[in-house]
Parts: sequence; C-alpha cells; structure tokens
Amino acid sequence: MRLPYGFTFLFLWCITAAGCSADSGATDDGVYEFKTASRDGIGKVYMGREISHVMGHLGAGWLERPERERLERTDLLIDRLPLRPDHHVADIGAGTGYFTFPVAARVPDGQVYAVDIQPEMLAMLSDRSRSLSVDNVTAVLGSETAPNLSPGSIDVAFIVDAYHEFSHPREMGLALADALRPGGKLILIEYRAEDRSVPIKALHKMSEAQVRREMEAIGLTWIVTEDYLPQQHVLVFAKPDKS
Ligand SMILES: C[S@@+](CC[C@H](N)C(=O)[O-])C[C@H]1O[C@@H](n2cnc3c(N)ncnc32)[C@H](O)[C@@H]1O
Repeated sequence: MRLPYGFTFLFLWCITAAGCSADSGATDDGVYEFKTASRDGIGKVYMGREISHVMGHLGAGWLERPERERLERTDLLIDRLPLRPDHHVADIGAGTGYFTFPVAARVPDGQVYAVDIQPEMLAMLSDRSRSLSVDNVTAVLGSETAPNLSPGSIDVAFIVDAYHEFSHPREMGLALADALRPGGKLILIEYRAEDRSVPIKALHKMSEAQVRREMEAIGLTWIVTEDYLPQQHVLVFAKPDKS
C-alpha cells in the first residue's frame, strides 16, 4: 500500500512465498530452555542467556531522549556504518526510527527497510517519514520469528539495542541471514555486559562472546568487534559467499 509523500508502508504478511523470506510461524523450540522468569526477563533461555522483555511503544520517549547522542555517540555509529550510497539496508527493531532516518540520508540511491513488530512504533516512524518527506524508507511489520524481507535483498542489516529482546533469536537470525545477499553484513549493537559501569539492566546487555556464539551458531562469520562507542559493542558479521 503506497501512502502519500513517497513513503511506502508495507504490511507484509507473506501470504505468498514470492518476495518474502519464509515465515511459516514454525519455531525451533528445541534450542530453548525455560525457567522462572527473572524481573526483566521472559523465562526463556537461549544459549545460556535469558531473553529480556520487549520494550513497549510507551517507552518511545526514551529512545528519543535528547542526551542520547551525547551519551551513546549515536552520531559516530551512524557515520561509521559501512554503507554505500546505493545500499539496501535493514534497520531491525527500528522503534521510532531514531537510526532509520540518518541512515536513509547516507543511502540516497538506496533504501532503508525499517522493521519492527509493534505497529505503534511503525506508526510513529511513518509520521516522521511524512513530516520529513523521505522517499527511501519502507516500514515493514515483522513477526517475532522473521523480518519479512525478500531473500538475498539486503546489503547491510543492523540491530541497535534490540536483539537481546527478540523472543525467537535463532529463528530471527536465520531469517535475517536469508534476507542478506551473499557477503552482506549483519551488525549488532548491544550494551557491553562486560562493563559494570554501563548503567543498563543486565538482561539488556550482551557480552561480545555471547553475541559471537549466537551468530556463529547460525552460520554467520564474525568479521570484527569495534569498541569505539562509550557503552556498546559494535559486532560485524558477514553472510558467507556461496561455497
Ligand atoms: C529498545 S527498542 C530499540 C529501537 C531502536 N533500534 C533504537 O535503538 O532506537 C527495541 C525494538 O525492537 C523491537 N523488536 C522486538 N522484537 C523484535 C523482532 N523479533 N523483530 C523486530 N523488532 C523487534 C521492539 O518492538 C522495539 O521497538
């Protein structure tokens, strides 16, 4: 459904397989363990890590807090993402679009797919897109198990402060790998669990070793971990070229 101002708001339900990565709703429950939920978690454990609650859309103001750029150097992250002007980029767990729009400015001949599972977040993102008259952002309603992106269509996917709350991280990881073109990159930005001075709840942080374990388990190749941000790791993975 095309909306005015050149903004495309896609509700991709994958009615047909054409153009969408598979999202049969099938889950890989055998890889998870279950326990009594801790205060910030859902009681579901993946590779030793309890998954956190999803941040609800009522927390949108926190994502847009004015001090965020200064404290987290989000400007540096946006500048350093490895992008070309024609890249097709996916912002997974895009929320209000805090990163979507500055990244869209970096790919004027490309496209940014802003994926989230909360329609309320996507509605805020759409409002912003209209007010900015941006024509290279597409909002995509994902599911808990898949981002609903076309196979092999994405050059760079990035996930800021969201992967730790994916209720089905293995399924999401596999579906994301499917959406990447061979050689495409998946970049995870997570608060550093190794650093006790980072003022974020434990389940909202991840260690470098844990992220690597989870990504390597789905067949992605670790390229580099960059620690130029004050509070977060930036971990870069690649989908192997066809062997
Ligand atoms: C803490 S917010 C971060 C938003 C944004 N990346 C930012 O840094 O401003 C996490 C977002 O991830 C979304 N999310 C949670 N599980 C998801 C999934 N399986 N697929 C896509 N988005 C998901 C939530 O709805 C929420 O908007």
